[in-house]
Amino acid sequence: MSKYNITLELNGVKHSNSVDTKKLLLNYIREDLHLTGTKESCGEGECGSCTVIMDGKAVNSCLILAVEADKSKITTIEGLEIEGNLDSIQQGFIDEHGVQCGFCIPGFIMTARAAFDSDPDLKRSDIPGVVAGNLCRCTGYVKIFKSIDKALRLERKR
Ligand code: FES
Ligand code: FES
Repeated sequence: MSKYNITLELNGVKHSNSVDTKKLLLNYIREDLHLTGTKESCGEGECGSCTVIMDGKAVNSCLILAVEADKSKITTIEGLEIEGNLDSIQQGFIDEHGVQCGFCIPGFIMTARAAFDSDPDLKRSDIPGVVAGNLCRCTGYVKIFKSIDKALRLERKR
Protein backbone atom coordinates (compact mmCIF):
# COMPACT_ATOMS: atom_id res chain seq x y z
CA MET A 1 0.00 0.00 0.00
CA SER A 2 1.59 3.31 -0.95
CA LYS A 3 1.08 6.38 1.18
CA TYR A 4 1.25 10.09 0.51
CA ASN A 5 1.27 13.04 2.90
CA ILE A 6 -1.56 15.50 2.38
CA THR A 7 -2.27 18.82 4.03
CA LEU A 8 -5.61 20.50 3.65
CA GLU A 9 -7.97 22.84 5.44
CA LEU A 10 -11.30 21.31 6.35
CA ASN A 11 -14.01 23.38 8.02
CA GLY A 12 -11.35 25.95 8.92
CA VAL A 13 -9.04 23.42 10.59
CA LYS A 14 -5.71 22.37 9.07
CA HIS A 15 -5.15 18.61 8.76
CA SER A 16 -1.94 16.84 7.77
CA ASN A 17 -2.13 13.08 7.29
CA SER A 18 -0.42 10.23 5.56
CA VAL A 19 -3.08 8.55 3.41
CA ASP A 20 -3.30 5.50 1.19
CA THR A 21 -2.98 6.83 -2.36
CA LYS A 22 -6.15 4.88 -3.30
CA LYS A 23 -8.27 6.27 -0.47
CA LEU A 24 -11.28 8.29 -1.55
CA LEU A 25 -11.81 11.77 -0.18
CA LEU A 26 -15.21 10.56 1.11
CA ASN A 27 -13.55 7.82 3.16
CA TYR A 28 -10.81 10.15 4.38
CA ILE A 29 -13.46 12.54 5.69
CA ARG A 30 -15.63 9.83 7.25
CA GLU A 31 -13.02 7.35 8.50
CA ASP A 32 -9.91 9.39 9.23
CA LEU A 33 -11.53 12.65 10.35
CA HIS A 34 -14.67 10.99 11.80
CA LEU A 35 -17.03 13.47 10.14
CA THR A 36 -19.97 11.31 9.10
CA GLY A 37 -22.38 14.01 7.93
CA THR A 38 -21.08 13.45 4.39
CA LYS A 39 -22.97 10.37 3.22
CA GLU A 40 -22.14 7.51 0.89
CA SER A 41 -24.94 6.05 -1.17
CA CYS A 42 -24.17 5.09 -4.79
CA GLY A 43 -20.40 5.48 -4.60
CA GLU A 44 -20.44 6.17 -8.35
CA GLY A 45 -21.07 9.90 -8.73
CA GLU A 46 -24.78 9.51 -9.42
CA CYS A 47 -26.63 10.60 -6.25
CA GLY A 48 -24.86 13.60 -4.72
CA SER A 49 -25.12 12.28 -1.13
CA CYS A 50 -21.38 12.69 -0.70
CA THR A 51 -21.23 16.33 -1.85
CA VAL A 52 -18.69 18.62 -0.19
CA ILE A 53 -17.42 22.03 -1.23
CA MET A 54 -13.82 21.92 -2.43
CA ASP A 55 -12.15 25.21 -3.33
CA GLY A 56 -15.57 26.81 -3.80
CA LYS A 57 -17.12 24.08 -5.96
CA ALA A 58 -19.58 21.35 -5.04
CA VAL A 59 -17.94 18.00 -5.76
CA ASN A 60 -18.79 14.34 -5.30
CA SER A 61 -16.27 13.19 -2.70
CA CYS A 62 -16.79 9.55 -3.79
CA LEU A 63 -15.12 10.37 -7.11
CA ILE A 64 -12.07 12.18 -5.74
CA LEU A 65 -8.99 10.64 -4.20
CA ALA A 66 -7.87 12.09 -0.89
CA VAL A 67 -4.48 12.83 -2.46
CA GLU A 68 -6.22 14.98 -5.09
CA ALA A 69 -7.49 17.17 -2.25
CA ASP A 70 -3.97 17.97 -1.11
CA LYS A 71 -3.60 21.74 -0.46
CA SER A 72 -7.33 22.33 -0.94
CA LYS A 73 -9.92 24.05 1.20
CA ILE A 74 -12.93 21.88 1.97
CA THR A 75 -16.23 22.49 3.70
CA THR A 76 -18.51 19.68 4.87
CA ILE A 77 -21.98 19.89 6.37
CA GLU A 78 -20.39 20.02 9.85
CA GLY A 79 -18.65 23.26 8.89
CA LEU A 80 -21.75 25.29 8.06
CA GLU A 81 -23.01 26.05 11.55
CA ILE A 82 -21.06 28.89 13.10
CA GLU A 83 -21.13 29.44 16.88
CA GLY A 84 -24.52 27.78 17.18
CA ASN A 85 -26.04 29.65 14.25
CA LEU A 86 -27.30 27.41 11.47
CA ASP A 87 -26.52 28.22 7.88
CA SER A 88 -29.54 29.73 6.12
CA ILE A 89 -29.93 26.62 3.99
CA GLN A 90 -30.03 24.40 7.07
CA GLN A 91 -32.62 26.79 8.52
CA GLY A 92 -34.64 26.67 5.31
CA PHE A 93 -34.92 22.89 5.55
CA ILE A 94 -36.09 23.15 9.16
CA ASP A 95 -38.61 25.91 8.45
CA GLU A 96 -40.12 24.11 5.44
CA HIS A 97 -39.90 20.56 6.91
CA GLY A 98 -37.81 19.53 3.92
CA VAL A 99 -36.35 16.40 5.51
CA GLN A 100 -37.77 12.88 5.56
CA CYS A 101 -35.17 10.15 6.21
CA GLY A 102 -32.52 12.86 5.86
CA PHE A 103 -29.88 10.76 4.17
CA CYS A 104 -29.67 12.90 1.04
CA ILE A 105 -30.04 16.27 2.77
CA PRO A 106 -26.39 17.12 3.57
CA GLY A 107 -25.61 16.69 -0.12
CA PHE A 108 -28.47 18.97 -1.18
CA ILE A 109 -27.41 21.59 1.36
CA MET A 110 -23.76 21.58 0.27
CA THR A 111 -24.72 21.79 -3.42
CA ALA A 112 -27.05 24.71 -2.70
CA ARG A 113 -24.44 26.42 -0.50
CA ALA A 114 -21.86 26.33 -3.29
CA ALA A 115 -24.43 27.70 -5.76
CA PHE A 116 -25.52 30.51 -3.42
CA ASP A 117 -21.88 31.49 -2.89
CA SER A 118 -20.94 31.44 -6.56
CA ASP A 119 -24.06 33.15 -7.96
CA PRO A 120 -25.47 36.07 -5.97
CA ASP A 121 -28.23 36.42 -8.57
CA LEU A 122 -29.52 32.89 -8.14
CA LYS A 123 -33.30 32.80 -8.57
CA ARG A 124 -36.04 30.52 -7.35
CA SER A 125 -36.48 29.12 -10.86
CA ASP A 126 -32.80 28.08 -10.89
CA ILE A 127 -33.15 25.76 -7.88
CA PRO A 128 -34.22 22.51 -9.63
CA GLY A 129 -31.31 22.84 -12.05
CA VAL A 130 -28.84 23.61 -9.28
CA VAL A 131 -29.65 20.39 -7.41
CA ALA A 132 -30.29 18.24 -10.49
CA GLY A 133 -27.32 16.05 -9.54
CA ASN A 134 -28.71 15.26 -6.09
CA LEU A 135 -31.19 12.42 -5.73
CA CYS A 136 -33.81 11.92 -3.02
CA ARG A 137 -35.79 8.71 -2.69
CA CYS A 138 -38.30 10.09 -0.15
CA THR A 139 -39.60 13.58 -0.70
CA GLY A 140 -40.66 14.00 -4.31
CA TYR A 141 -38.46 17.15 -4.26
CA VAL A 142 -41.28 19.66 -3.66
CA LYS A 143 -40.31 20.25 -0.01
CA ILE A 144 -36.64 20.31 -0.90
CA PHE A 145 -37.16 23.04 -3.51
CA LYS A 146 -39.32 24.99 -1.02
CA SER A 147 -36.60 24.66 1.64
CA ILE A 148 -33.91 26.03 -0.66
CA ASP A 149 -36.24 28.80 -1.80
CA LYS A 150 -36.84 29.72 1.85
CA ALA A 151 -33.08 29.84 2.34
CA LEU A 152 -32.73 32.19 -0.63
CA ARG A 153 -35.28 34.51 0.96
CA LEU A 154 -33.59 34.28 4.39
CA GLU A 155 -30.24 35.08 2.88
CA ARG A 156 -31.43 38.09 0.91
CA LYS A 157 -32.68 39.66 4.13
CA ARG A 158 -29.17 39.61 5.61
S1 FES B 1 -22.15 8.56 -3.04
FE1 FES B 1 -21.08 10.01 -4.24
S2 FES B 1 -22.46 10.57 -5.80
FE2 FES B 1 -23.46 8.97 -4.73
S1 FES C 1 -35.08 12.57 2.57
FE1 FES C 1 -34.74 10.42 2.37
S2 FES C 1 -33.49 10.21 0.60
FE2 FES C 1 -34.01 12.30 0.70
